[in-house]
Amino acid sequence: MTPFSPEYWVAQLAPDPGVNYAVTVWRVSAIPSDQFQRWNRRNTVLREALREATANGDTRRMQSLSQELNCLNSSFVEKVLPRARAGSALMRADGLHDALRTDGGVLGYELGHAAVHVLLRLTDERGVEQHIASWRAAAPEVFDGVECILQSCTAEEATQWQKQHRGESKSVPETGEAPFRHTTVLGHETADVLLPTEGKVMLDATLGGGGHSELLLRKGASVWGIDRDPTACAAARKRLASYGNRMHVLEGCFANVQELLHHEGVKSIDGIVADLGISSPQVDTPLRGFSFLSEGPLDMRMDPRSPLCASDIVNDATEEEIASILYRYGEERAAHAIARRIVQHRAISPITTTTRLADIICSVLPRRSKRHPATRSFQALRIAVNDELKQLEILLKDGFSLLRSGGRFAVITFHSLEDRTVKRFFEHVSRPELDRPEWPAPRPNPDYAARIITRKPIIPGAEELATNPRARSAKLRVLEKL
Ligand SMILES: C[S@@+](CC[C@H](N)C(=O)[O-])C[C@H]1O[C@@H](n2cnc3c(N)ncnc32)[C@H](O)[C@@H]1O
Repeated sequence: MTPFSPEYWVAQLAPDPGVNYAVTVWRVSAIPSDQFQRWNRRNTVLREALREATANGDTRRMQSLSQELNCLNSSFVEKVLPRARAGSALMRADGLHDALRTDGGVLGYELGHAAVHVLLRLTDERGVEQHIASWRAAAPEVFDGVECILQSCTAEEATQWQKQHRGESKSVPETGEAPFRHTTVLGHETADVLLPTEGKVMLDATLGGGGHSELLLRKGASVWGIDRDPTACAAARKRLASYGNRMHVLEGCFANVQELLHHEGVKSIDGIVADLGISSPQVDTPLRGFSFLSEGPLDMRMDPRSPLCASDIVNDATEEEIASILYRYGEERAAHAIARRIVQHRAISPITTTTRLADIICSVLPRRSKRHPATRSFQALRIAVNDELKQLEILLKDGFSLLRSGGRFAVITFHSLEDRTVKRFFEHVSRPELDRPEWPAPRPNPDYAARIITRKPIIPGAEELATNPRARSAKLRVLEKL
């Protein structure tokens, strides 16, 4: 690839349809070159030495070199980059993420510490100029005074770029045309408790393969199905097409449920189901990066267009941040030891695959039980990448306010953090009075508006567990609005 000035490429190549380009917007030039070169030279020497020490199994030297590399990189990231207003500004530019995400010509993009690399496919209607102008309008602070270098590349090079960056980039993973197979958990229990009948309007906030939606449709209700995963939406649309205009599929996340429904003119709902977590196709597709059992890019995004993936956290977060994520979202007791080992290993080379991360975790936590040592850490990263607990809190609040009087809210959880959040919310809105030790007497609860239908959560029976072991930790809780 040969870099030229933007003007050159705009003039020479933009009218050529179907040509792929790699566009690099970067700020490295803002860093004084002597500092950059000094850092780069030392970094290369240390990495080489570390590689040699690793090959010789010299653990003492590995440790001291890792420490030195960490110090060098931390001081570069903390002291040099911010002064140059480099990568961090790019990383935080929400407008840029959105502009790239929603730009149909963008095949993939990668945010580095000091650069944004974008792979574009051009058409007759939109050349490089138009794309850059729209990103510039969305995030002027990123483009203000930075270099924007365009590099032409052939279709083959573009494919190669996607392959090379699969582990680290935000390129939309190929999901292929594999059939969407997900066994619905607690399907009949959920459908029965929601009392769906003809004319009722239901919300399936976690559409997935459409299993719960279909059970509600079969009982005559209309369903609005929402999912943040476009693959799930496409599969459900296909599966439920025969229900015609009783089934509506919307792409979006819990945080937008209210807005999405209002936009469609839906002001209230008779029942809501939320079957939390991920679907089987998400966990079983190695390219989605959710599973430690098969090699794939360290991705874990439910929505492949969202900006943050697991490799960003593992490679860019500080040791303390990683430990805190593993502890808070995975309840992993070895969080600090795992975070320390991750930081040592990423100094050798970025950790970009699921299996490499799983091996690193196993080197800290030898396998002692049936449960794989990486289970908790992978759960934690997935929760952090998809901001799952915050999303759940918004769904509970907004979903509840959408419910009509007598409407029911059914939530299926798969781990204690989710279940605790749901239980706490259900208990809060169904308590007529609030009490605190410092109050002389209980006070009326301003949020009181519901009654709990399931004092104890409904769990799968032996028959369901025999056919679907993934249902083993499922708990169904149900609430009714007064
Ligand atoms: C367990 S699956 C649902 C399976 C579905 N009930 C069925 O029977 O086929 C959970 C789905 O919820 C989606 N999901 C999880 N969190 C979400 C969120 N915050 N916003 C939108 N969709 C979400 C996931 O992408 C996934 O497809």
